[in-house]
Amino acid sequence: MTHPIITDLKTRYTTKKYDATKRVSADNLAVICQAMRLSPSSINSQPWKFIIIESDQAKQRMHDTFANKFQFNQPHIKTASHIILFAYNPKYSRADYATVIDADIASGRTPADNREQAFGAYAFVDLNTDASGNNAAWTKAQTYIALGNTMHTVARLGIDSTPMEGVDSELISELFANELDGYICEVALAIGYHETQTDYNVKLPKSRLSQEQIIQII
Ligand SMILES: Cc1cc2nc3c(=O)[nH]c(=O)nc-3n(C[C@H](O)[C@H](O)[C@H](O)COP(=O)(O)O)c2cc1C
Repeated sequence: MTHPIITDLKTRYTTKKYDATKRVSADNLAVICQAMRLSPSSINSQPWKFIIIESDQAKQRMHDTFANKFQFNQPHIKTASHIILFAYNPKYSRADYATVIDADIASGRTPADNREQAFGAYAFVDLNTDASGNNAAWTKAQTYIALGNTMHTVARLGIDSTPMEGVDSELISELFANELDGYICEVALAIGYHETQTDYNVKLPKSRLSQEQIIQII
C-alpha cells in the first residue's frame, strides 16, 4: 500500500542514538506545539501539561532524573534536540473543567447562557473518579492520545523521536516540581535527528503483528 500516512508510519521508528549537532527548527517546534494543543481528549478535558525541555540547564535537570533507573534512555537527554514531558493531572476537578467551558464560551462554541448546562458532561469525569478525587487512570490515558498525535506529527516533519516510559516519575516530580505543579509525568518524547552511523534501529525492518491477528472487520 502506498499512502502518505502509511509512509509516515512506516518510516518513523524509535531512535536509539541522536546526532547532537542537529536541532529542530523553531518553525517545526511551533507546528509540534500546535499539534499537541489540538490533540483531542475525553469531553475536551485537556487534563495535561506539556513541558518542552530545550535549554542546557533544563536538560541537565532531566539528565539528573536518571540517577536511579532507566539509564538506557539517559543519553538521549543531551543529544536529542528537545525532550517533551507529557504530564497529567491526577485529580482533575470541576474547577479544571470550568476553564475548558470558559474557553468554549470565549471561542463562541458554547453560548454564555449555557455555562451551567455545559457542566453536564462532567458526569463522565465523576464516573472515572474515586472517593479521594483521584482520576489519574483516566487523565493519564488522555496524554497518550497527545503522545500518539505528536509522534505522527514529528514523523510528518521528518523529525526522529523516542517515546520513553523509561523515565523516573518520582525524580521528575521532584526536579520539575515548579513546572509540573502537581501534574505527573510517566512518559516523555525525545525529538531530534538520528546519528547515521550508530543508530542500529534505523536499519531494522518495521515489525508488527499481521492485520489479521489484530483487526476484525465485522
Ligand atoms: C508508550 C511507549 C513507551 C516506550 N518506552 C520506550 C523507552 O523507554 N525506551 C525505548 O528505547 N523505547 C521505548 N518505546 C519504543 C517501543 O519499544 C517501540 O515503539 C516499539 O518497539 C515499536 O518500534 P518502532 O517505534 O521503532 O516502530 C516506547 C514506545 C511507546 C509507544
